[in-house]
Amino acid sequence: MSQGSEEKPAIARRSPGLSGTARIPGDKSISHRALILGGVASGETRIAGLLESEDMLRIAKAMRALGARIHQAGGEWIVAGAGNGALLAPEAPLDFGNAGTGARLIMGLAGVYEFDTVIVGDASLSRRPIGRVLDPLRRMGVQVKAMEGDRLPVMLRGPETPAPIRYVLPVASAQVKSAVLLAGLNIPGVTTVIEPAITRDDTERMLTAFGADLSIEMDRDGTRTIRLHGRGRLRGQSIEVPGDPSSAAFPLVAALLVPGSDITISNVLMNRTRTGLILTLQEMGADIEVLDPRLTGGEDVADLRVRHSQLTGIDVPAERAPSTIDEYPVLAVAAAFARGQTTMRGLQELRVRESDRLSAIAAGLKLNGVDCEEGRDWLTVTGRPDGKGLGNDADKRVPTHLDHLIAMSFLVMGLASEHPVGIDDSSMIATSFPQFMDLMKSLGARIEQA
Ligand code: S3P
Repeated sequence: MSQGSEEKPAIARRSPGLSGTARIPGDKSISHRALILGGVASGETRIAGLLESEDMLRIAKAMRALGARIHQAGGEWIVAGAGNGALLAPEAPLDFGNAGTGARLIMGLAGVYEFDTVIVGDASLSRRPIGRVLDPLRRMGVQVKAMEGDRLPVMLRGPETPAPIRYVLPVASAQVKSAVLLAGLNIPGVTTVIEPAITRDDTERMLTAFGADLSIEMDRDGTRTIRLHGRGRLRGQSIEVPGDPSSAAFPLVAALLVPGSDITISNVLMNRTRTGLILTLQEMGADIEVLDPRLTGGEDVADLRVRHSQLTGIDVPAERAPSTIDEYPVLAVAAAFARGQTTMRGLQELRVRESDRLSAIAAGLKLNGVDCEEGRDWLTVTGRPDGKGLGNDADKRVPTHLDHLIAMSFLVMGLASEHPVGIDDSSMIATSFPQFMDLMKSLGARIEQA
């Protein structure tokens, strides 16, 4: 439940074959970066297809408080940037609600400025560790003036001249990488980030498009070294945001699981740092046809035709975690309908998301009759191909722990299980995918607010 708002339970029931075309909302990561870089660039940035979710409205509000002017006109978002190095001190705390990525990215962007930035969030966000972002910021000279434990709220103040650092990411995290690079925008000299395994690369791509002096070197073992010359000029851009593969994941898995389904999902971002779920499902036997692959604004985009398929369990390697990270909840649901066992490894990062996602998935699966085992960083799910016995007659609702992805994943489960699947709260879905219910219903899904 979002702070102060009411819980909205929801229920999903076994559905007839899904059909039709789904147009999913804009990619969350690209939308974040478009607003942030537009807000710190010089001149005007025009954004078409921006994700209009609660998280995004928080970012827009924060960027306005930092000096950007943002308005909507004719379906586009238009940002007049403050200019690199010229952000204004926010007059009030920046409240990010449930928006973890926004909070972390802005901690980097604004934290190095020589003014106080206070960042607050909702109950879920205030439980998540932020030390991973504060460590590199402290090395740049940023002072953490107030904080409780390793959690929000936090007050940051940058030094007169922040120091460029060379930072080896201790965890594979695009948020931490991006926080360091965005901080580097206002640091003289070269800020270097070294990532042992590639994570989503929207920040690097977009910084380059905005004219930042950024270079990337890739070693044979896959280590990437990213160097950014700070204090350069960024120029406003026109951006077309492709559809979010993390949102596409829900209609996609639903169509695979519900017998008789045949749907098309249009305009999906196919950046290789994001397509781990599609690759895994294809290895499990999914019928996913990639139609009309094309380049939109420098990104790979395609339409996906998805038909009901009998899946077979596989072992998903830990190396695939960065490109699948937000899709494990719905992949676990797919595994619940596969023949045999699916084991997913390298899942330790799931424990520090909007909820302890690994435990939340396992608990929800068990509540609905799925045989699964949870380890420190792995999950094994034994599937039941026809969904027989799955779901919950007793109307026991899956606890979603303020986590939108848990909510949507279990609603997808209910579309193919013998019995309905209920969730305690669907209100958080609006943080990332406000059209979810309507879009799924338009394909024929039997979902309703309980
Ligand atoms: C995101 C990065 C990912 C992902 C999150 C969005 C981003 O987290 O889970 O939803 O936009 O940078 P990591 O920081 O673990 O890569």
